[in-house]
Amino acid sequence: MRRLRFLLAAFFLLALDVLPPPPMAGAQLAPDYYAVVCPDLEGIVRDAVRMAVAHSPVAAPATLRLFFHDCAVRGCDASIMLINPDGDDEWRSLDGITLKPEGFNTVMSAKAAVDSDPQCRYMVSCADILALAARDAVFLSGGPDYQVELGRYDGRVSTEASVLIPHGSFDLDQLNGFFSGLGLSQADMIALSGAHTIGAASCGFFGYRVGADAAMDPAFADQLRGSCPGAAAAGGFAFLDAATPLRFDNEYYRNLRAGRGLLASDQALYADARSRGAVDRYAADQGAFFGDFAAAMTRLGRVGVRTADDGEVRRDCRFPN
Ligand code: HEM
Repeated sequence: MRRLRFLLAAFFLLALDVLPPPPMAGAQLAPDYYAVVCPDLEGIVRDAVRMAVAHSPVAAPATLRLFFHDCAVRGCDASIMLINPDGDDEWRSLDGITLKPEGFNTVMSAKAAVDSDPQCRYMVSCADILALAARDAVFLSGGPDYQVELGRYDGRVSTEASVLIPHGSFDLDQLNGFFSGLGLSQADMIALSGAHTIGAASCGFFGYRVGADAAMDPAFADQLRGSCPGAAAAGGFAFLDAATPLRFDNEYYRNLRAGRGLLASDQALYADARSRGAVDRYAADQGAFFGDFAAAMTRLGRVGVRTADDGEVRRDCRFPN
C-alpha cells in the first residue's frame, strides 16, 4: 500500500513536471501589489538596471531575453534562474545555455538592492523583479515605459526536459503554434518579436541563410559574411537589428521590409502575407509598435503565474528556499 502511494505520488510529480503552464492566471496580479510592503520597489529595480546597463551594453538585451525564456517555460516563475546541483536545470539546456550572464547578473543585483532595503527584504519574488527588470531594460534602451503587473510567486522546480523555445528557423505556422501554446496570439507574437530590435545572435543561428535565402538583401548578406567567415565563425555574431542595435525602436520592422531580417523567423513575418500587414504598420508607426509591445509583454507576463499555494518568494533567486 505504501509502495502504491509512493508510485502514485511519483507519477503525480512526473505529470506536473511535463505539463505546460496554464496559459493565463493573471487575476491576482496588480501593479501596486507591493505598495505597502515595498513602496520604493520600482525605483530600486530601475536604479539597479540602470547601473547594469551603464556597465555593459549586453545587459539590456540579455535581461529582456531572459524574461521571455522564463515565461515560455513553466510560466513566469523565475525557474530559469534556478541552479540544480545535478546540472539538470533550464539554463543548462541547449536553448538556455546561450542566455548571457549579464541578464542573470542584472536580476541578481536588482534582487540584492531590493533586499538591502529592510522593509522589502525577502518580500519581493524573483519572478516580479525579472518582469520589472525586463521592462526597465526596454525603457532604458529607448522603448516604452509601461506598468508591470506584480504578485507572481517563484517556482521551486527547474528541469532541462521542460525547455521548449521557438527556434530561429521557424516559419509562421511554427511560431504561431508555439505562442498559442502560451495563450498568445499571432498579433502578440509579431509585437514581441520586435524585442529583436536590440541584441545579437551567434552565427550558428543564421549563418546557413547567407547566400541561400533569396529574401535576404545581397548587401546585408555581404555584411554577414564578414561577421561569420565560414566555419571559423565560432564566437562570431551579428546584431539582430543592424541599423540601431542598442536602441529599442521600430527599425527591426523596417529591416524586415528591406530583406534585412537576421533570423529566418524574423524574415518570415514579412514573407508571409498573414503577418506582413502588421510589419508594415509597425515599420510606419513606432507609437503603434510601442503600445502593442507593452500590451503583449503584459500578456506574456501572465503566463503560468504561481500563487502562494504552489510557489514561494525565493530568498536567493538561484535556489528554492
Ligand atoms: C518569435 C520567436 C523567437 C525566436 C525564434 C527567437 C530566437 C532568438 C535567437 C535564435 C536569438 C539569438 C540567441 C543567441 O545567439 O544566443 C535571440 C536573441 C534574442 N531574443 Fe529572441 N526569439 C524569439 C522571441 C523573442 C521574444 C518574445 C523576446 C522578448 C520579448 C526575445 C528577445 C530576444 C533578445 C533581446 C535577444 C538578444 C539577446 C542578446 O543579445 O543577449 N526573443 N532570439
